[in-house]
Amino acid sequence: MSDKLIVFDTTLRDGEQSPGASMTKDEKVRIAKLLEKMRVDVIEAGFPIASQGDFEAVQAVANAVKDSTVCGLSRALDKDIDRVGEALKGANSARIHTFIATSPIHMEMKLRMSPDQVVEQAVRAVKRARQHTDNIEFSPEDAGRSELGFLCRVIEKVIDAGATTINIPDTVGYNVPNQFGRLIRNLIERIPNSDKAIFSVHCHNDLGLAVANSLSAVMNGARQVECTINGLGERAGNASLEEIVMAVRTRQDIFDCDTNLDATQIVPASRLVSGITGFPVQPNKAIVGANAFAHESGIHQDGVLKNRETYEIMRAEDVGWSTNRMVLGKHSGRNAFRTRLNELGINFEVEEELNDAFKRFKDLADKKHEIYDDDLQALVTDASVGVENEHVKLIALKVCSETGEIPDASITLSIDGEEKQAHSEGGGPVDATFKAIESIIDTGSELQLYSVNNVTNGTDSQGEVTVRLEKAGRIINGQGADTDIVIASAKAYINAVNKMMAVDDRAHPQL
Ligand code: KIV
Ligand code: ZN
Repeated sequence: MSDKLIVFDTTLRDGEQSPGASMTKDEKVRIAKLLEKMRVDVIEAGFPIASQGDFEAVQAVANAVKDSTVCGLSRALDKDIDRVGEALKGANSARIHTFIATSPIHMEMKLRMSPDQVVEQAVRAVKRARQHTDNIEFSPEDAGRSELGFLCRVIEKVIDAGATTINIPDTVGYNVPNQFGRLIRNLIERIPNSDKAIFSVHCHNDLGLAVANSLSAVMNGARQVECTINGLGERAGNASLEEIVMAVRTRQDIFDCDTNLDATQIVPASRLVSGITGFPVQPNKAIVGANAFAHESGIHQDGVLKNRETYEIMRAEDVGWSTNRMVLGKHSGRNAFRTRLNELGINFEVEEELNDAFKRFKDLADKKHEIYDDDLQALVTDASVGVENEHVKLIALKVCSETGEIPDASITLSIDGEEKQAHSEGGGPVDATFKAIESIIDTGSELQLYSVNNVTNGTDSQGEVTVRLEKAGRIINGQGADTDIVIASAKAYINAVNKMMAVDDRAHPQL
């Protein structure tokens, strides 16, 4: 029997710390529900002290998720810890994750504390967290650059104080695999009470080594990995969940542990996170990139046709890639629609949501004859789904683009039920459309990112547009999909505006 490797997903916390990747409360809940379905063991939902919005998001995730443990992050301060405790009150299973830096540079320059003071504060924090729950994780921040003897000292004390998981972060992604693996082994061997806690790792990808370091740690005794969908995270990101999980599963001949994960949810989760954050997945990304299972060369194609295992070490369908066959069309009914969604692992809890999605499906089928699985995924991850208080709605859009002429757009929006019209010119049809929207709403925001991706192949494909707006330090991503990319762009812009208008004071989650 191999050991269990605990999967701790921090997409909603460290992932959200990627500049531009902020998520609304509803988006966090949608992602958390999919992580739960994937059987992720622990979901780190946010940093409740960072803002009222982050507090509410953690609270909403804690209330929505039943099968995974929900975790909130706190500095080693009473007020942070109590705030996490409060946010997690509704959780079936709650964990408080508290951290304090232990590297000489962080202690001296950032905290301006002596090593003794750090130990004292770490112990105090763990004891405080124990007043809320027995499930306590402690992280010595920047452990990857901390002195081994000091790490052993702090960790022994926090385990005595009640920490049940000890997470070793390579905060700045400085370590290399052999060294990091050795660090984990040394800690487990030297700390007298190490058997009273699970050892975890949290690796950043500054040198492109986050997954390799995590795997080396697992080979040396770590039994929890902290990771994110698509490797999202601070700077160069965190270790990617899909790569770690599939490496361990594919190489059971060398790992003496495995996760409990339902890997078929990996691709849907990757898409959902990419759609919500507006961070595209590079085509050659392992596991979830569009080309991850594509065979271009004749020799490879020939080999795979003769025996799949000649060039494939995993099956695409095992990580959630669909065969992408034509599934539905304009004459398909509601039952066929629901059945295919269920086969793709998408279930609506509320009948009204299914009805909305079915209506969008019918609209799409009018424009596009063949509806593929990817179209259905785009349809249900359409960001306008689930936006509460949709103040602004697109009623009509007409654009004119002609060689030698200045493009222009005429738009009709409904603002809280009242119709307003505007006309603008622009450098192109999308520019004219955004200017027309702004001339009605005047958001005062700045466009930071505009990107379009095709959902399927062919010129009748839906275009999936992401728009990132920034206003007074707040970053909001909007998405829209349509076979007409100018309409998709208008939908994405309006989606971002609606999110901006929603009552939510969330600033960037980093303190
Ligand atoms: O990278 C890091 O050190 C962290 C800690 C809070 C675990 O994210
Ligand atoms: Zn981190």
